[in-house]
Amino acid sequence: MRNLSGKNIVLGISGGIAAYKSVELMRLLQKQGADVKVILTDSALEFVTPLTFQILSGNPVYTKMFGDEYETSVRHIDWAEKADCVIIAPATANTIGKLANGIADDVLSTFMLAIDCPVVLCPAMNSKMYENRVVQKNLDFLENEGFMIIEPSSGELACGTKGKGRFPEHDFIVHNLIKRMFPKDLEGKKILITAGPTRESFDPVRYISNHSSGKMGYSLAKMAELRGAEVTLVSGPTNLNTPYGVNLLPVTTAEEMADQVFSHMDDKDIIIKVAAVADYSPITIEDKKIKKSDDDLTITLKKNLDILKEIGKKKKDQILVGFAAETNEMEEYASRKLLEKNLDMIVGNIVGIPDSGFGADTNKVTMFFKSGDNVELPSMEKDKVANSILDKIYKRFLR
Ligand SMILES: Cc1cc2nc3c(=O)[nH]c(=O)nc-3n(C[C@H](O)[C@H](O)[C@H](O)COP(=O)(O)O)c2cc1C
Repeated sequence: MRNLSGKNIVLGISGGIAAYKSVELMRLLQKQGADVKVILTDSALEFVTPLTFQILSGNPVYTKMFGDEYETSVRHIDWAEKADCVIIAPATANTIGKLANGIADDVLSTFMLAIDCPVVLCPAMNSKMYENRVVQKNLDFLENEGFMIIEPSSGELACGTKGKGRFPEHDFIVHNLIKRMFPKDLEGKKILITAGPTRESFDPVRYISNHSSGKMGYSLAKMAELRGAEVTLVSGPTNLNTPYGVNLLPVTTAEEMADQVFSHMDDKDIIIKVAAVADYSPITIEDKKIKKSDDDLTITLKKNLDILKEIGKKKKDQILVGFAAETNEMEEYASRKLLEKNLDMIVGNIVGIPDSGFGADTNKVTMFFKSGDNVELPSMEKDKVANSILDKIYKRFLR
């Protein structure tokens, strides 16, 4: 999902050694659908050329206050009015000082006084400069004024020393910028989400599992976090990166998943169970690898605890959402599960068809409610499906 589709982002670049990293940052913002316009300070021009940003952004680059013979409007006002968000990366100690004191003596600082939109600052500098009391005082002031300050990371610095002051990971910056712009309708809510498959071993090298990739649960965790929720994600084994800001509790078996869910559910406002938990697991797990023989092998399975049903019994006034992945007669199974397991809502999806269910990047789901009505969504990217599910949870149960 392109989270910055149609957004006008102004990227301010000041004169730090990390200025070259802003090229990649701009590309990532564009990948999220943003139209990026760039402002470079005089000092930034010592490190990077405007041409790179002009070609890659497809927009003119703003570098000087006066003397642009083709200019027909007052650009710093024009850009300020259209900006949905401004990010200054890297933000030098000098630029931070100017912003904190209302100084407007160049293009970037003048533009910054004319904006009325969220601002994200990425300070990057030598660690002694960063720790300097005046710089810290200026950052505190700007944070109190509503600027989002992304802390620099620690490590080797361009000046040859080690410490805090490095330009953070690009993905992390983009995540924070998107988060700054997202509505915070789930602020203050604690959400427990389960995702992925479980693995039930029957010898040290073999297990029974299913095709769940974890993508739907991870999308829900990512979107809920962006919308301001405090998210705990109990996940079986997947190949996915943990979404930023999400508390991941990794598990392997259905039993481990049950333990984590029951010990973390009490203080949650919403529980969304997306994980494809094994219904059965082998009665015995051999100590040594089972040797191949000419005979067939029989593995006897025992029924696992139905975690969703148990939550349904234990829950107090929490909102409980389940998922039903079915190959057929989805409506009937989903509606029955909704009632039998005391759910507030169930999301049904057909698996085993292209573009939906396990492993796919898209999903086609129908949401069923206790009241008997349902809402069918078209096939969409899983991030979008996640957002629609959260919209429904918000509108039906939280407003
Ligand atoms: C090689 C070199 C690297 C610099 N790197 C940084 C830096 O990473 N962060 C910083 O705050 N200042 C850095 N400076 C100092 C700034 O360029 C200087 O304070 C300048 O006035 C910043 O102007 P601006 O904020 O208008 O871009 C560096 C200077 C030089 C010569």
